[in-house]
Amino acid sequence: MTGGGTQRVGIIGWPLGHTLSPAMHRAAFQALGMTDWRYDALPIPPDQLGSHLRQLRDEGGYRGLNVTIPLKEVVLPFVEADETAAALGAVNTIDFRTKGGHNTDVGGLLADLAAHELHLPRRRTLVLGAGGAARAAVYALAQAGAVLAMHNRTVARAERLIAELGAQVELLQAQELATWRPQLVVNCTSVGMMKEGEPRATEQSPWPAGVPIPTMMTVYDMVYRPARTKLMAQVEAQGGRGISGLGMLVQQGALSFAIWTGREAPVEVMRAAAERDLYGGGEA
Ligand SMILES: NC(=O)c1ccc[n+]([C@@H]2O[C@H](COP(=O)([O-])OP(=O)(O)OC[C@H]3O[C@@H](n4cnc5c(N)ncnc54)[C@H](OP(=O)(O)O)[C@@H]3O)[C@@H](O)[C@H]2O)c1
Repeated sequence: MTGGGTQRVGIIGWPLGHTLSPAMHRAAFQALGMTDWRYDALPIPPDQLGSHLRQLRDEGGYRGLNVTIPLKEVVLPFVEADETAAALGAVNTIDFRTKGGHNTDVGGLLADLAAHELHLPRRRTLVLGAGGAARAAVYALAQAGAVLAMHNRTVARAERLIAELGAQVELLQAQELATWRPQLVVNCTSVGMMKEGEPRATEQSPWPAGVPIPTMMTVYDMVYRPARTKLMAQVEAQGGRGISGLGMLVQQGALSFAIWTGREAPVEVMRAAAERDLYGGGEA
């Protein structure tokens, strides 16, 4: 147990595998001299969510939480979702003081795209995937005024996402990806991600085999492990630009930090901590 003056935050999920959030937030507290702040990893089974939330808030002294898979949706009835979280049907940040449920993935993606000086209004942008990450991306990119198309292995899932968000998104088949002439591709699939026990997983690309990759395109890959994915390499080989999605993860954490603490997050400190945790200082 920590003392009475301790300010606690943490991350809930089930099962809660390795997460970069503790390293990022602890580094931020340390950098700002916030010695009485703690960040904990808290595995919580979905069927016990309500009682655990009450306990963490009322007895545990928690100020707020990050929420990850598979609790982002089931936590909705326990919070007052803001406009973004309600539209996405997913919460990744809770502030117990206001009962607010937020989704900082949207702001995190937009902040990182802006940090890479990607001007979004009217930019032809192709979203690959139709899961939770794609949902946040479509919502963010539509808000920013991009011209949107989407491609997903399971067409019905993409159709559902577009209908639920009410967004203007053209649904493309694999053969149409090149001819649609995307300027920006946002990979929201998990293809190419490092996976335990699957040594060849990182050799895969979400870009369909046999479909030419347009030249001079930018790809933003939400997959950040490895730091340089197969898709990024494919796009760079055509004179394009590859950007790793680690910055989005850092920026969504920075926004959560600001919600709980009321202070601006030390983004570069958080990024360095995430990189150390992920790549161990080896892979860049
Ligand atoms: N950088 C960040 O901050 C950030 C934030 C959120 C998520 N992410 C990353 O984004 C990725 C997606 O996350 P999510 O939460 O959206 O996952 P999810 O809901 O499980 O969705 C996975 C997506 O990947 C597609 N997919 C999976 N395997 C495939 C394959 N072999 N071939 C073609 N498509 C395949 C799925 O297509 P189907 O619909 O056909 O199954 C679906 O569109 C993960 O790698 C996650 O780590 C990164």
